[in-house]
Amino acid sequence: MKWHGCKTCNNRLYVGDMDTVSLAQQFETPLYIVNEERVRSRCREFLHEARARWPKSEIAYASKAFCCKAMCALVASEGLHLDVVSGGEMHTALSAGFPPDRIEFHGNNKSEKELGFAVENNVGRIIIDSQSELQLLSKVCTKLKKTATILIRLNPGVDPHTHASISTGNHDSKFGVPIIDKQAITLVKEIANNKYPNTKLIGFHCHVGSQLLDLEGLGEAANVMVSFANDVKIATGIEIEELNLGGGLGIRYLNDHNPPAIGEFFDALLEPAKAAIKKFGLKPPRMVFEPGRSLIGDAGITIYEVGAIKASASGKKFVSVDGGMSDNPRPALYQAKYHALLANRATENPTETVCVVGKSCESGDILIPQIQLPEAQRGDYLAVFSTGAYNYSMASNYNRLPKPAVVFVMNGKADVVVRRESLEDITSHDELPSRFILSRS
Ligand code: LLP
Repeated sequence: MKWHGCKTCNNRLYVGDMDTVSLAQQFETPLYIVNEERVRSRCREFLHEARARWPKSEIAYASKAFCCKAMCALVASEGLHLDVVSGGEMHTALSAGFPPDRIEFHGNNKSEKELGFAVENNVGRIIIDSQSELQLLSKVCTKLKKTATILIRLNPGVDPHTHASISTGNHDSKFGVPIIDKQAITLVKEIANNKYPNTKLIGFHCHVGSQLLDLEGLGEAANVMVSFANDVKIATGIEIEELNLGGGLGIRYLNDHNPPAIGEFFDALLEPAKAAIKKFGLKPPRMVFEPGRSLIGDAGITIYEVGAIKASASGKKFVSVDGGMSDNPRPALYQAKYHALLANRATENPTETVCVVGKSCESGDILIPQIQLPEAQRGDYLAVFSTGAYNYSMASNYNRLPKPAVVFVMNGKADVVVRRESLEDITSHDELPSRFILSRS
């Protein structure tokens, strides 16, 4: 099977040596299953491949892809850094015991409260997204009598050839400080003139886009970044210590996808970076990379139970499952494609083309518009592959559907790392002020 850690046995789908059908029966559906061995081996491969090419490298897992305490602890135990983008992600990491000095705080609109939280907790790096944010951070630091280590996120003006909604480094993106119109160099000159007390600039950051299968844009961005570092050295004398080139490596969603290897991702970024650093005679900086999807995406599978099966007037056959856009909004948001099979009939040949739909009250709640499956019955289990990234982390309670549990499996053992929400959880934040209390007649 092309799906890592998956095999079939007695017509059933296994992952991490666990029978997915038994897991579905034990933990109920929908159920996110994560193959822990795959996540750990990706962490190690990222570190190894980066350091083989550039010894002074760090890997910061982009926790937006999938964030919970166990994941933060796993990443810490593998020696990685962590990219967080909100007070919520930061709190999750800190409450899992993640070393604060290895946390990098991102985001294009960090609040004063979030900045204060980061500074008070000695978070390692704050990635500044705008001049106005730097002003605010300097004020926060001065009040707290602390110094924050910062990088500036730059907009390198590169088109990474991916879906428009996940392209982040083009000229019109909301992220980063533009290089092209001199906003970035102006900001660095202000920093050099001590305009932002209690902040210490150590480098620059960029991230051009996500689910990249064509790596050309990465090399272009690396070139722009090093050349900007050289402009800064010339204009201010500041030589950077750190260059963070972001994440973005794509993964397999369909059988015929062939995503680049981790080594190819690093070659695409580091070959041009190395050449440019040599050309300008810059001091080699520490390099940081921020994979999210490619570290956990293909380690995840979602298991659903099949419910209603019916046909439209035009003959289109619908197979409905007990989740959908509430646990995986990606097909609706980005027209993302997924592969699936029946977990309890995993070796049966497909006999028909169906449309897999969710249970939300929304016509766009289509998980897979067209897929070949054996004739599904109510009670079958459907396994959707590569749901480890941006599924649980983007799940919602639309229609007041409780969020599914997340189970990590390894060596024949399954552990719940996120409990399934209950119906009580759904109403746990509701208040019923006295004038709304219905009297019983
Ligand atoms: N670093 C920064 C600053 C980022 O903004 C991101 C992703 C990453 C790293 C990690 O990128 P990755 O390696 O996962 O491609 N919700 C969308 C993806 C949004 C990505 C946002 N930023 C999706 O489901 O496709």
